[in-house]
Amino acid sequence: MLKLIAVTSDDQIRKVAELAHNIWNQHFPAIIGQDQVDYMVERFQSDTAIRQQILAGYRYYLLRVFDFDAGYLALVERPERQSLQISKLYILQEWRGKGLARETVQSITNMAHTLELHRLYLTVNKFNHSSISAYLKLGFEKKAEIVSDIGNGFVMDDYEMERELS
Ligand SMILES: CC(C)(COP(=O)(O)OP(=O)(O)OC[C@H]1O[C@@H](n2cnc3c(N)ncnc32)[C@H](O)[C@@H]1OP(=O)(O)O)[C@@H](O)C(=O)NCCC(=O)NCCS
Repeated sequence: MLKLIAVTSDDQIRKVAELAHNIWNQHFPAIIGQDQVDYMVERFQSDTAIRQQILAGYRYYLLRVFDFDAGYLALVERPERQSLQISKLYILQEWRGKGLARETVQSITNMAHTLELHRLYLTVNKFNHSSISAYLKLGFEKKAEIVSDIGNGFVMDDYEMERELS
C-alpha cells in the first residue's frame, strides 16, 4: 500500500515543504518551542533549502498511501560509515501508528543492501519521546548524544540512533 516516490520536480519539492510545515507545526512546538520550529522550517525545510539539499546528494521521497501523501523521507549515503543516514522521516499525525514507518524502514533496508551499506542511523531530539519509542521498536539503539549549534541562539539536542543490518 505504501509507495516511496522520488522527489525530483518543483511540484514535488513544494509538496514536501508543505508537509514539513504541517508536521513540524503539529509535533515540535511542544518539544522545542514555536520560535525554533519557525527557524528550523525556514532554514532546513523551505522549497529553497530542500532543492539545495537534493543538489548536494540528499534523496527525498514522498510517502504515498493510495493517492495520499502521508509524509516524507530523506536519505543520505554515508559510505565512510558504511551507513545510510535517515536524515528526515516525518509522517502526518493522522497517519501515525499504522505501520508506515516500519514499512518505510524495510524499504530503506532493502536500499542499503543494494548499496552494500551495513547500517542505518539517524538523529532524534532527546525529548521526542514518542519517536524514540518507535525507533527502539524498529530496532535502533541509542549510540551517542549530539548537541549542534544551528545559529540564532538555537541548538539541536539529539541522540544518534543506529541499527545494524544483518
Ligand atoms: C516517528 C514516526 C516516524 C513513526 O512512524 P509511524 O508510522 O507512526 O510508526 P509505525 O506505526 O510504523 O510504528 C513502528 C513501531 O513503533 C511503535 N510505535 C509507534 N509510535 C509509538 C509511540 N508513540 N510509542 C511507542 N511505540 C510506538 C509501533 O507500535 C511499532 O512497533 P510494532 O510494529 O512492534 O508494534 C512518526 O511517529 C512521526 O512522524 N513522528 C513525528 C515526527 C518525528 O518526530 N519524526 C522523527 C524525527 S527524527
